Amino acid sequence: MRSTYALTVGTLLIGSAAADSPVPGVVQWQIEKRQSAVSPLLQKRADTYEEVITNERMRGGYFATCAIGTPFQNLTLQLDTGSSDIWVPDVTAEACQASRSNPKGCTFGTFDPNKSSSFVDVGKGTFSISYVDGTHSKGDYFADKFEIGGAVVNVTMGLGIDTDIAYGLVGVGYALNEAIVAGTQSASSAYPNLPVTMQREGLINTIAYSLWLNDLDANTGNILFGGIDTAKYKGDLTRIQIYQDDRTGAFTSFLVALTSVEAVSPSGNDTLTSRQFPIPVVLDSGTTLSYLPADLAMQIWKEVGAIYSSELQLAVIPCSMASSAGVFTFGFAGPNGPRISVDMTELVLPLTSGEAPKFTGGPYKGQGACEFGIQNFSSDPFLLGDTFLRSAYVVYDLVNNEVGIAPTDFNSTTSNIVAFPSYGAQMPSATAAPSQSQVTARPSVTTPGYVASAGFSETATASAGGSGGGSSSAGGSQGTGKNAGSRAPPFDFARVVVVGVCMVFVSVGSGAFLLI
Ligand SMILES: *[C@@H]1O[C@H](CO)[C@@H](O)[C@H](O)[C@H]1NC(C)=O
Ligand SMILES: *[C@@H]1O[C@H](CO)[C@@H](O)[C@H](O)[C@H]1NC(C)=O
Ligand SMILES: *[C@@H]1O[C@H](CO)[C@@H](O)[C@H](O)[C@H]1NC(C)=O
Ligand SMILES: *[C@@H]1O[C@H](CO)[C@@H](O)[C@H](O)[C@H]1NC(C)=O
Ligand SMILES: *[C@@H]1O[C@H](CO)[C@@H](O)[C@H](O)[C@H]1NC(C)=O
Ligand SMILES: *[C@@H]1O[C@H](CO)[C@@H](O)[C@H](O)[C@H]1NC(C)=O
Repeated sequence: MRSTYALTVGTLLIGSAAADSPVPGVVQWQIEKRQSAVSPLLQKRADTYEEVITNERMRGGYFATCAIGTPFQNLTLQLDTGSSDIWVPDVTAEACQASRSNPKGCTFGTFDPNKSSSFVDVGKGTFSISYVDGTHSKGDYFADKFEIGGAVVNVTMGLGIDTDIAYGLVGVGYALNEAIVAGTQSASSAYPNLPVTMQREGLINTIAYSLWLNDLDANTGNILFGGIDTAKYKGDLTRIQIYQDDRTGAFTSFLVALTSVEAVSPSGNDTLTSRQFPIPVVLDSGTTLSYLPADLAMQIWKEVGAIYSSELQLAVIPCSMASSAGVFTFGFAGPNGPRISVDMTELVLPLTSGEAPKFTGGPYKGQGACEFGIQNFSSDPFLLGDTFLRSAYVVYDLVNNEVGIAPTDFNSTTSNIVAFPSYGAQMPSATAAPSQSQVTARPSVTTPGYVASAGFSETATASAGGSGGGSSSAGGSQGTGKNAGSRAPPFDFARVVVVGVCMVFVSVGSGAFLLI
């Protein structure tokens, strides 16, 4: 059945249910409302829209403030590149009723269709989405006014009547990854989702957007529809190809080729290896951590001295390692492709909302325990989530099926927005990775010498001072790499209640990954 995707993909984005054109001026009126000083005479048709996204650390994701219906109902929704439907919790949803485990209900807002005069139910009982982490949302598809970043469109969305998630999502992936496509097993049931609708209604020129998540310690980043912001990255923006699903030939997710990982520290560098290189990885803003093949994850854990906790089913690490001098450099699209360095500040996350739980035994006895940003996964899809994406500026071009990637400029306060000039235009200010054709080359699998390991236990400030050799300033983690993957209980599990910091919002059952 899924092979039909390949046949229809070419026509999909121009076929199917066209949304009504909005009244010209509706959007401009909205912009004017937000920027009341701007004279209507000075307004031209906008070609990019920027929405601030807030890092809700205890919810494990980035959230945008959106408005739906007539009059607008405000909802805060998680932005997700790993799925393709917008859905909102219905006011009657079980997950939104105050209960003992959830005393405040849906604090990010619910949607009440009865209170929107522009609400149209377009598919009773046809909305059903499940995510890789086991959560779900089910109900109706509906069409209504939707506002994000000052742009207003009439778009199809899911109404989560039966859901175990206390907030909705804005999925901005390929239309072919919509839940309805998986549900009907038919590409022709795809509808124009948010990015497609914004392009069709002339708000943006092509189906593309850029995502800047910024530092873990900063609260906000942004999504820019229709353009790139050249002031938000350093060095060159490199275009790499997105991979088609090899079973169907369709583009369904932001799957790219991870072709190298290097551990770099003051004590030396290690090229890490995996039987799975080149590794297909999904760039997924809806996933908190990153998930790599076990052989590669084990090498990374060994470099930093992370320990696998079988109770938590997570690799954990002393919180003090956030100031480690080491970095991991991820290479994409073959030799001379773009490289993104991720430092340890971005890879050490709190396990709980309060004080860190302490290791009660083993090499880190008495130290605070944190969650490590790179975990192991046994099979596809491997995911580069927020722990990786914060270090990269990423442009998603859904027409040319390319991703632009560059090292992020953390905390950049300037802006230089360049719009994609037309439908299908090549990404501005970007060059193609030079040897993408070589990504099928499989590097040999060797055991790293772990020369970088000692340097990971130096603090970043110490290394900036140029000191060499393995100090133990990161709290006794020196030489503990050999404990990586140990299953000994590292701390008193009874005290640890892991908060919802670990979301994996990649939809299940899409054309690319049929996991069920
Ligand atoms: C929005 O789209 C739906 C379905 O495409 C349509 O029935 C409805 O009238 C539209 N609403 C507005 C306000 O344009
Ligand atoms: C929704 O948000 C807007 C802008 O922040 C605000 O002006 C409005 O009062 C809010 N509406 C409701 C119903 O809270
Ligand atoms: C919305 O309206 C329907 C039909 O009139 C009614 O059955 C339902 O209870 C209403 N829902 C709410 C939350 O008021
Ligand atoms: C970015 O800003 C945050 C919050 O102000 C700060 O904690 C962090 O260190 C900054 N990051 C960089 C790389 O300067
Ligand atoms: C390790 O890699 C870094 C960054 O790529 C480079 O500057 C440094 O020279 C390398 N060190 C060694 C010993 O190769
Ligand atoms: C991750 O690694 C640990 C330790 O080797 C193993 O017990 C666990 O099953 C692995 N998890 C996955 C999802 O592969």
